[in-house]
Amino acid sequence: MEIIHLSAECYPVAKVGGLGDVVGALPKYQNKLGHFSKVVMPAYNNSFMRENEFEVVYDAWVNLGRDGYPVRILREKTNKLGFDLYLVHIPGLTDRDKVYGYGDDTERFIAYQIAVLDWISQWEHRPDVIHCHDHHTGLVPFMTANCERYKSLNHIPTILTIHNAQYQGQFGWDKLHYLPAFDLWKSGMLEWKNAINPLASAIKCAWRVTTVSPSYLDELSQRANGLESLLSMERGKSSGILNGIDNEVWDPKKDPMLEKTYNFRTVDSGKKANKAALCAVFNLDPSKPLFTFIGRLVGEKGADLLPDIFHNALAHSRGNINILVLGSGDPVVEGKLSELQHWFSGNYNAYIGYNEKLSHQIYAGADFLLMPSRVEPCGLNQMYALRYGTIPIVRRIGGLRDTVTDIGDGGFGICHDQTSVWDVGQAMGRAYELYKDKKRMKEILKYTMQLDHSWDKAAQQYIDTYQM
Ligand code: ADP
Ligand code: GLC
Repeated sequence: MEIIHLSAECYPVAKVGGLGDVVGALPKYQNKLGHFSKVVMPAYNNSFMRENEFEVVYDAWVNLGRDGYPVRILREKTNKLGFDLYLVHIPGLTDRDKVYGYGDDTERFIAYQIAVLDWISQWEHRPDVIHCHDHHTGLVPFMTANCERYKSLNHIPTILTIHNAQYQGQFGWDKLHYLPAFDLWKSGMLEWKNAINPLASAIKCAWRVTTVSPSYLDELSQRANGLESLLSMERGKSSGILNGIDNEVWDPKKDPMLEKTYNFRTVDSGKKANKAALCAVFNLDPSKPLFTFIGRLVGEKGADLLPDIFHNALAHSRGNINILVLGSGDPVVEGKLSELQHWFSGNYNAYIGYNEKLSHQIYAGADFLLMPSRVEPCGLNQMYALRYGTIPIVRRIGGLRDTVTDIGDGGFGICHDQTSVWDVGQAMGRAYELYKDKKRMKEILKYTMQLDHSWDKAAQQYIDTYQM
């Protein structure tokens, strides 16, 4: 099949979180199954553009209401990603330093979506499916189904994958004229709660809807940031497909970012070397258990509770544990997490910011990874941790529920039921006991490192879903 993935992020070109990891891996694994899967994303200002070779495949104008912008679509020629990559370059709109967070994000992503459909409608053949990821690409199913201009694309199946229903991309009706013409009585297909809502529109218009874990799909009918009833209504065409991880990028056996590579047989010495290197950089004691958190410092991740969780744990443990944080987000949380360094220097450290290489080094060097998420559509960190022999401590929610089983139930992780300082504290206490039982800890690590979280299964599940 020919599959076109549309997404705002794709590793290694642009990544803010797990969306980038997924879109940078799934097409590669679909291609391994014999399909022709590609990614078409906006072109941002980043080194990827400078370091790679491109050819221009489309050179035109894109209209956004009364405004017109030049647009160029560039194909990456080196083929090193395992899929064809196309970058949609709209000077003045897409070419920014960050992926999101601008006052005109609505305009930026609508222009990108229109440019993509203008381009595809000029092709001599039709792709078999257009796969949209999250709200930035959520107007595509509406436009292919309803805009006069895209009549020739009407019959292409569209699929929406919801990576996070918290973000929906709503905007006002005053921007309706950005979209190419369609019968106005169809505007209901764009609307949710008196606004144009790209995520809701995609849930209504896409041929199929998927979420990134089965549990998240179940939870969405209770809690979906206002979309609960819509998701319940569209349940018939929805399914949950658990994300995989890219075993080639996340492989402790050959990860070039590590101090020392290792496999499940050499996990002891491998992790020891990586932990020692990490502890040396962050002034921590490698003889003590190392707890970590990696992620966006936002409420969904339970990040607001981290300062209290860490303060309590460090105060109670009397210097017997280490904690290392890697994250960025809410400035108040960032400030509190930095401040803890003054109180617990030698046992605690925080790197506030984004650092891909350090994240690999932490998965390899840590003993435990905390994920006290309030909402977790899938979560990839816990799967990276397992592959690198780090035990996840997770709240039983969404994809965490689907990927981590508690050691008390014959599993390999530590699970708790609530996102609270108390629950996480208890879970860290259980982790500390496990750490002292060296033999058991080693057995668990050997086991987790051999678990299969690869994309092979999910890549096929998506193909089956396209064909349903
Ligand atoms: P989400 O997409 O909700 O942020 P996921 O668990 O799906 O959560 O994916 C997060 C991804 O982003 C992982 O690859 C994780 O290692 C990475 N990540 C998050 N924060 C940082 C950071 N500050 N530095 C480096 N990598 C990070
Ligand atoms: C979102 C979710 C995260 C998921 C990722 C990739 O960012 O918050 O749980 O793993 O998308 O699907």
